Amino acid sequence: MLRISVLVSGGGTNLQAVIDGIESGFIKNARIGLVISSNPNAYSLKRAKKHNIKTVIIGKTNYPEQEVRTKAIIAALHDAKTDLVILAGYMSILDQSLVEAYRGRIINIHPSLIPQFCGPGFYGKRVHESVLASGASETGATVHYVDEGVDTGPIILQEKVPVLEGDTADILADRVLETEHKILAEAVNIVIASIQQE
Ligand code: GAR
Repeated sequence: MLRISVLVSGGGTNLQAVIDGIESGFIKNARIGLVISSNPNAYSLKRAKKHNIKTVIIGKTNYPEQEVRTKAIIAALHDAKTDLVILAGYMSILDQSLVEAYRGRIINIHPSLIPQFCGPGFYGKRVHESVLASGASETGATVHYVDEGVDTGPIILQEKVPVLEGDTADILADRVLETEHKILAEAVNIVIASIQQE
């Protein structure tokens, strides 16, 4: 049984997609051992508690120093015997030491077709505002491995989503989220299969 830790900052619909994937049996041979939130008020924490998943808050509020914060995250992942880390709406950039400690074992969901609309400054609603401002007719979602860069690691799965007339950033975000939930669960299965073959 592979142990997943999920890092979150907000609402946690992607966390929910992983929880649902495991509970429905779509994601096999895995369980979520820990949810780490950078934000003490994240709704993600309520979702985790509802499913009896252990939670811990490690963010700028309780760990203002970046190096100490990263050490706390690594220690929590280690204590939870983490095999796979999922960044699910996690709004911080990982320190190199964390990427090194879990190299090839960290994946991220991003709400665009990487390499478009990604990198520093492109997160959450800002991504969709930029897509709309560009006049693009399609966007999408990407799950990728995390390396030292921002949204630069190898892509696991990517799927297109149309931009429709009259879209606002919120409407587009909701449409992209549906695709995120689908490809995140699929990508988790792909990564689990590859870890099991190691
Ligand atoms: C999702 O759209 C996720 O892809 C995005 O934040 C949202 C979180 O939603 N992540 C990023 O922008 C990271 N660069 P959720 O909390 O409901 O999963």
